[in-house]
Formats: sequence, C-alpha cells, structure tokens
Amino acid sequence: QKHELVNDFRQFRDSPLLKIWIGPVPFLVLFHTVLNNPVHMDKAYAYKFLHPWLGTGLLTSTGDKWRRRRKLLTPTFHFSILTEFLEVMNEQAEVLVEKLDKEAGKGPFNCFNHITLCALDIICETAMGKKIYAQSNYDSEYVQCVYKMSDIITRRQRMPWFWPDLFYNYFGEGWEHNRSLKVLHSFTSNVIYERAEYIAYIESDSESDQGMRKRRAFLDMLLKTTDEEGNKLTHQDIQEEVDTFMFRGHDTTAAAMNWAIHLLGSHPEVQRKVQQELQEVFGVSDRPINTEDLKKLPYLECVIKESLRLFPSVPFFARSICEDCHINGFKVPKGANAIIMPYSLHRDPRHFPQPEEFRPERFMPENCVGRHPYAFIPFSAGLRNCIGQRFAVMEEKVILASILRYFNVEACQKREDLRPLGELILRPEKGIWIKLEKRKQQH
Ligand code: HEM
Repeated sequence: QKHELVNDFRQFRDSPLLKIWIGPVPFLVLFHTVLNNPVHMDKAYAYKFLHPWLGTGLLTSTGDKWRRRRKLLTPTFHFSILTEFLEVMNEQAEVLVEKLDKEAGKGPFNCFNHITLCALDIICETAMGKKIYAQSNYDSEYVQCVYKMSDIITRRQRMPWFWPDLFYNYFGEGWEHNRSLKVLHSFTSNVIYERAEYIAYIESDSESDQGMRKRRAFLDMLLKTTDEEGNKLTHQDIQEEVDTFMFRGHDTTAAAMNWAIHLLGSHPEVQRKVQQELQEVFGVSDRPINTEDLKKLPYLECVIKESLRLFPSVPFFARSICEDCHINGFKVPKGANAIIMPYSLHRDPRHFPQPEEFRPERFMPENCVGRHPYAFIPFSAGLRNCIGQRFAVMEEKVILASILRYFNVEACQKREDLRPLGELILRPEKGIWIKLEKRKQQH
C-alpha cells in the first residue's frame, strides 16, 4: 500500500482536484502547487506528531515564530560556515571509503546503512560539534533512537485511531515513544550545556584558546545569535532547532545519495562521465575536496538533481490552506489540508519527456531554459523551502565524488526491485545492493 501511494496518484494528474481521506481528516492532493502564495505556509495536522520531539522548531512552527526563527537561522547556513563543514564531510567520506574498501571485489552487498551512518556522523558534528562515531559504533543508543523515533512517528501518522494521546498511550506505542524521546532529548540537551560552557570558557580565556579552538558548529551560532532586541535564544529554543537539524539533516541526504548510487550503478555511461570529470579535477591525487573543486563538478551536480527528480527524499509534504481560495474552479475553504507531491510532479512528461528515464543532461543550464519554476521541487519552494539545501548538495557531492574516485559501482537491482516506500522519507524497501570494484589508477 505504502508503495502504491506515491506511484498511483500519477493517474490523477490531469484531474482538477483530488481529495483523499486519512482517517477523519480530508486532504487535497495538489499537483498545481500553492507554494508561490506566502499566505499558505502553515503546516498540516500530520506534523503535530513531530511536536513532542522537535517542539516547534523551524520545520514545524508557523506564523510569527517561524518568521523570526527563519530570519535568525538563515545566516547560520552562510557559505563561509559551509566551507568549514567541508572538512568534516571529507573526513567522514574517508571513513566511508575505508569501510567500503573491505567490500570491494567481494560481490553484492547492501550499502544503505554504510551511507546513512556516514550522513549521521556528518550532521552530528556539523549541527552539534559532537563526534558520535556512528560509522564505527552503530550501537549508540542515541543513534538507535533517532531511527526508532522516525519509524514510530510514521506509524502513528498512518493510524488515525492512535491520533488521540489517550488511545496512543494506553493501546499504542506511547510508552516506547516516550522512552525514545527521553534518550533523544537528554542527549541533545547535554550537548548544548557542554557546548555553552565550552564557549563561555573560550571567551573568558582568550589567550589560551587559539591553538585548541574547536571547529564551529550550527549550535555555536545558535548559542551566540540574538534577535533585533538583543535577546538570545533560550535553551529550549536551541534544543528545538538542534533536534530539527538532526531529524531533517541526515535521513534526507542519506536516501538521496543511496538512490544516486543505484542510478549511477545502473548507467555505466553516466558513471564514466562523472569519473572523467573527477579525473580532470583531481588526476591521480587523493587529496581532499575543496570549495574550488566543488564548482568544477557540474555534471555530478546534474546527476544529483536528476536522482532527486526521480527519487525525491521527501516524496510529499503537507500544508494547511490559510485563506479561502479557488483552485481550478473549486472553492477550497480555509483550514483544508493539502498534500504536495514532488514524486508525482517530477514525473510530468510536459516538463520531463519520458520521465522514468535517468538523463542527467536534463539539468544542464541550456536544457533548463523555460522550464516551469515549480516543475522540480525536491527542496520545496517559496518561503518555506529547505534551509539546508546547499548543505545537502555539498554533502552529496563530497560523498559521491569520494566513492567514484576510488570505486566503480555496479547496481545489482533493477528499477522494479527497488519498491520505493513513500513515508516521511522515500526509501528503497530492501536497501541498495551494489558491487564495488577498486579503480586502478588510484593504487
Ligand atoms: C537531499 C536532502 C534534503 C531534501 C530532499 C530536503 C527537503 C526538504 C523539503 C521538501 C522541505 C519542506 C518540507 C515541508 O514543507 O514540510 C524541507 C524543509 C527543511 N529542511 Fe530540508 N531537505 C534536505 C536536507 C536538509 C538538510 C541537510 C537540513 C539541515 C542541515 C535540512 C533542514 C530543513 C529544515 C530546517 C526545513 C524547514 C524549513 C522551514 O520550514 O523554514 N534539510 N527540506
């Protein structure tokens, strides 16, 4: 059923409006988006189940709170800080390549977890300034709870009878939910306290710090930032944002990189072209990737975009319609819930002829001329678009480039074997199975 949800809506693409019921709540499925109207930027009912974990951080907040937060947080994704994060990404890519090296030449294996743990290490260090060594220590209770919580929330969203807290706590997974919540919150809360103390120490002792200054993390900026009246964020405000980055900042990129690996592994001609591009930038050197290199990989960027078109990590998202309006001649009342589906929108043959085919060339600048601005929206669009999109593309470039510099990838699944599950994140049902072969010129 889950599989069909994202696939089967395509047949309704030309209907003016489609309504589905999820339990007692009607949702409009919109192929013609409401994203360009800043009035409709509130999040739909289903996001309520994220609140216990994420509070009302950037993803889940609305109205003035969201506006203030977005303004405050936008500078934390500035180019200069992203450049510092490149170091972390390179280091973690190296760990990943070492792990993958052990699988090379040995036949098919599932790379999904390897890549996901790498993305998790990257977000922990960049968001919180904390190394958790997920790639070598999968047993971490925090790591396990991040996954458990995403699963628990998805299950609850699908079972309307568990929406009321009372039923959920008595008959559902309320107990497990609350236990995981405690682990997640106490971990991030401790990290925030530790980091705040560390920053206070550095600031009070400006001479001794130069040599030992740690790398900056998003958290440092959250601890220092002030609004127009000079007010700092509270501990709870900061916790909401850190938890949001942890939730939003790794599963999404991990899924995207996995899909890209599958597509590259099934299209050797595309893979060779990426490797050719890498060869021109790096030659036989195994030096880390710098910001200049990133600009010289336009074809790899096309591959990333085309993979996100076919398999957008966030296959659908929902909004609440904030004002009565008309859509295709139908009156839609204020308060209605609307679902927007990048997965279906991206398969519109008017914008992407033969939409199921993997053709990175579609995203070369000359081929994008005249394309509708909302034909490709993996990061949503308008005011509430993804604040982490540049971070995400940078991470994808570093990891995919690192893998393809060392290995040739061969996919061991056909497209029909993948069975994308469209939950909070679009994942392949049984992972991504590949074979790796070491590339000769590197050794
Ligand atoms: C390939 C990777 C990613 C994809 C496909 C993606 C996609 C999206 C989408 C579709 C939204 C809109 C969701 C909605 O309206 O409900 C969104 C919002 C958001 N994303 Fe991402 N994202 C990615 C990576 C990241 C990363 C790496 C971070 C953080 C480091 C991040 C942080 C956020 C936040 C905080 C929001 C809420 C923004 C707001 O409402 O103002 N995302 N993302």
